[in-house]
Amino acid sequence: MTVHYKEKHRNQFHFSPKEKWMNDPNGMVYFNEEYHLFYQYHPHSTTWGPMHWGHAVSKDLIHWEELPIALFPDEHGAIFSGSAVVDWNNTSGLFKKGPGLVAIFTHADTYPDSDRPRQRQSLAYSQDNGRTWITYEGNPVLSDVNITDYRDPKVFWHHETNRWVMVLATGQTVTIYTSPNLINWEFASEFGTKDGSHDGVWECPDLFQLPVDGDKENKKWVMLVSIGDNPEFKEGSRTQYFVGDFDGTTFVNNYSEETVLWLDHGRDNYAGVSWSDIPTEDDRRIYIGWMSNWRYANQVPTEEWRSAMTLPRELSLNSTDVGIRIIQRPVAEVNSIRGGTKEYKGVIVEENNSLSYNIGTLAEVVVEFEKQKASSFGLSIHNTSEEKTTISYDSKREMLLVDRTNGGDNSFSDSFATVQEAPLKLNNGKVILQIFVDTSSIEVFANDGEVAVTSLVFPSEVYKTISFFSQEGSTNIRQLKLNELHSIWE
Ligand code: FRU
Repeated sequence: MTVHYKEKHRNQFHFSPKEKWMNDPNGMVYFNEEYHLFYQYHPHSTTWGPMHWGHAVSKDLIHWEELPIALFPDEHGAIFSGSAVVDWNNTSGLFKKGPGLVAIFTHADTYPDSDRPRQRQSLAYSQDNGRTWITYEGNPVLSDVNITDYRDPKVFWHHETNRWVMVLATGQTVTIYTSPNLINWEFASEFGTKDGSHDGVWECPDLFQLPVDGDKENKKWVMLVSIGDNPEFKEGSRTQYFVGDFDGTTFVNNYSEETVLWLDHGRDNYAGVSWSDIPTEDDRRIYIGWMSNWRYANQVPTEEWRSAMTLPRELSLNSTDVGIRIIQRPVAEVNSIRGGTKEYKGVIVEENNSLSYNIGTLAEVVVEFEKQKASSFGLSIHNTSEEKTTISYDSKREMLLVDRTNGGDNSFSDSFATVQEAPLKLNNGKVILQIFVDTSSIEVFANDGEVAVTSLVFPSEVYKTISFFSQEGSTNIRQLKLNELHSIWE
C-alpha cells in the first residue's frame, strides 16, 4: 500500500489529490468560513478521462482536507470546468432555507448519433456547505449548437446592474451572458475576436475588478483567458490577461489588439481563476492555477497521482511605464508553514566563485541582489546528483531566466527541458527574488510580484542547496533570507 503524500516527487506545500489525475481548479468559493476548491478529476486513472469534480476544503488556503467527489458524469455527460457562487438572495429559488452554493459548469458529451462534441452549461446546488450536490432538473441551462468549444463558465454577481454575469469560452473569444436567477441566460456581448493571443483555443476565462495602485476610486477590470496547447508554439498551454472596462454588458480592452500580456512566464501555470465570495472585509482577489501544461501533463513522472495546484496568489494591479499590469504574490497565509529563518546581509558574490547555502528540503528563499558590473548573476538550486535549476538575471537583455534543462528527469517529453524567460527591469538597481522550492516545483516571484515564473522540476533527489554566482564582475547580495517551510500533509 502506498503511503500517501510521501511519494517521490509529491509536493509538500501545494495541494494535490491523494491519488489519480487532476487538472483545472474549479468552483472556488468561500462560504461559512471555508475555502472550497473543486477540480477536474479522473478517479479511475492517473491520466485525463471522463471528468468529475473532486473537492477539498481549507480554513487557510494552505492546509487542505480532501472530501468525497462532488460531481459525477451523468446523462448529460462529463463535468468539465466551471465556477461556484453563493446565491445569497436565493435568486435561483433553489434553496428552502438560507443561502446555498450553486455550481455552474460545462456538461460535455456528443450530439446524438454523432461523434461531434457537445458542450452545454448546467447547474448543481448544495444546501449543506458543498458536502452533497443536487443536479438541477432543468439541465442544461445554456447551449448553442453552432459553437463547438463552448465551456468553462465563470459566474459573478454584478452589483451595479443587479444580475449575474457569466464569462464563457467560445472558440477563440469570450462570450458574456447575463441572468437574474442563474437559470435563464441572455447573450450580452462577445469579446476578443482580434485581441491578444490566438495561439490556441480559449479556455477558462475569468473577469473581476481591482483597484489600480490600491486606489479604490480608480478600478479596472481584468479578464483572464487561458489558451490551449498548440504544437506550433513551444510554450504549450498558457494564460493571458486583458485590462479594461466593463459596464455589466461589454468588456472593452484598454490596450491595443496586438498587446499580449502573460500572467506567468513559466510553463506550469494553467487554467487558473479566482475565488468567488471573498468577504468584503477581506476584499482580496485570490487566484490558484493548475501547475502543469497540456503539452506533457499526462506524462509527468509521478505514479499514484498527477498534478498539483500553484500556491494561492493574491492578484492586484499596478500602473507601470508600459501600462497597468497584474502583480501576484503568494497569499499571506503562507506564513502558517514558515519555520526557522536564517538571515544574511551584505554578502558579496565574487566573479566565478560560487557561494553555497543549505536550504533543507522545503524552502522559501528571498534574495535582494544589487546589480554591480556583472553581466549575469543569480543562483542555482540543486541536489547531490548535479541536477539543478538555475535562476539568473541577464543584465544586458534585462531578462530573468529560469533554466531547468538540467533540473532532473526530462525524459518524458521533448518539450520539458527548457529555459523560461521573463522581461524584468531592475527596481532601483535591484532584483528581488522570492522563490518557493517544493519537491517538484519552483515558483519565482520577482520584484515584489511583478513577474512570476512557475515551473515543475523532477530531480532524482530533492534539491537541498543553493549556490550563488556572478559573471563578469561581482554582485552584492544586500539581503538573503532562508525560510524553512513545513509540509501541509503532516
Ligand atoms: C482546460 C480544459 C477546459 C475543460 C477542462 C476539461 O484545461 O481543457 O477547457 O473544461 O480542461 O478537463
